[in-house]
Amino acid sequence: MTERDHSAERLEIIPVTGLPEFRPGDDLTGAIADAARWLRSGDVVVVTSKVVSKIEGRLVRVPADPEERDAARRRLVEEEAVHVLARFGRTLITQNRIGVVQAASGVDGSNVAGDEIALLPADPDASALALRNGLRERLGVEVAVVITDTMGRAWRVGQTDTAIGSSGIKVLHSYEGQVDGQGNELQVTEIAVADELAAAADLVKGKLGGLPVAVVRGMSLVDDGSTARKLVRPVEEDMFRLGTAEAIARGRREAVLVRRSVRRFTDEAVEEDVLRRSIGAALTSPAPHHSKPVRFVWLRDQGLRTKLLEAMRESWRADLRGDGFTDEQIAKRVSRGDILFNAPEVVLPFLTPDGAHTYPDARRNANERTMFTVAGGAAVQGLLIALAAEGLGSCWIGSTIFAADVVRDVLSLPEGWQPLGAVAIGHPAEAAAPREPLREGLIEL
Ligand SMILES: Cc1cc2nc3c(=O)[nH]c(=O)nc-3n(C[C@H](O)[C@H](O)[C@H](O)COP(=O)(O)O)c2cc1C
Repeated sequence: MTERDHSAERLEIIPVTGLPEFRPGDDLTGAIADAARWLRSGDVVVVTSKVVSKIEGRLVRVPADPEERDAARRRLVEEEAVHVLARFGRTLITQNRIGVVQAASGVDGSNVAGDEIALLPADPDASALALRNGLRERLGVEVAVVITDTMGRAWRVGQTDTAIGSSGIKVLHSYEGQVDGQGNELQVTEIAVADELAAAADLVKGKLGGLPVAVVRGMSLVDDGSTARKLVRPVEEDMFRLGTAEAIARGRREAVLVRRSVRRFTDEAVEEDVLRRSIGAALTSPAPHHSKPVRFVWLRDQGLRTKLLEAMRESWRADLRGDGFTDEQIAKRVSRGDILFNAPEVVLPFLTPDGAHTYPDARRNANERTMFTVAGGAAVQGLLIALAAEGLGSCWIGSTIFAADVVRDVLSLPEGWQPLGAVAIGHPAEAAAPREPLREGLIEL
């Protein structure tokens, strides 16, 4: 590697053979120094994190019974996780204490005794630095150290070794602004050199042969003081921060909370399919006696919409005049209904209580009406939520309830259709975050 190019002319990857089985407290530096007296300055010593975990005592004793061991392993995965990013079957993808996002928080039961489980080293960059300093002291060589763990990659099948700790090597090589042989400027190419070294060394170390250390020889080392921690993508830059299941769960959780009354819309047209889908979702709402007592009228004809709203306005004016309001007061009040003239789309919900039961007494008939009315409310709220979940804003306007005859007359609807207001729909002029659930209003008995 040079300042310009991260590649070497030729590389050798040399296994460090003859290392013992390591246990907590063992001298890893001394063992590597003894087994690799041939180390030279400029070499990269690549060490499997498992042996670092072992000498640093990061082993947890667990029951040898396979089922209990597995349960203990799963508990440790949760404990080591700072964030759970995704669950995929039994696999948990987490961000662990050292910031690394990987399966099972790096908790691993391979290459350890049957009643043990290994956690990752607590600070692999510090472990790498200590080993590098130790090798300098013992052998007088200036090497780089990379500590590795095996992980899967999003969108790629199979695992590779990656660097979770390092010292003495520039972990990222950026080609930004450089020009290739064809004269193209490389804009965003940044090579994770430490990860490439980890993966290369694994081709020699393997997983079964008890070979935890290999040396990569032939790199021209550039040390800019960076460590493997730099290879952890900051959460705010993570394009896949939420796994699919988490994103769906969050979407569901927030569906009710993103709804609010939106009274200002952009000029952007509402997609017909989206509106149909939302109405379809709303029509699945609960209703008494397995009935379907709600209809949504999508007022698509602009002329009809204006005719209806003007007729309603006239009837409202008449009501207000009857209340004794002045013309000025009436004009002010009536202008509040403008949202239905201007909204990109208007949908009118109606209650058509066909399946309602009739009782011999007025009390129960009134109760039956209430029961159907609340079912109508449920359907309208369903529409508002479905729209919000589609990113559309809406406002439920009550005015048609007060002008039921006018509405039925202008739209030529049957006598039994009871207007439940109007829903103004469009793309919201302002974005809004989901609300917090409320506590007041909940009474627990
Ligand atoms: C049956 C009903 C009728 C409503 N009528 C109107 C209305 O005529 N004009 C209006 O601006 N908002 C109307 N609203 C919306 C309420 O003002 C709104 O829901 C309330 O202020 C709470 O705000 P939020 O919807 O953002 O939670 C109505 C709501 C309901 C449920």
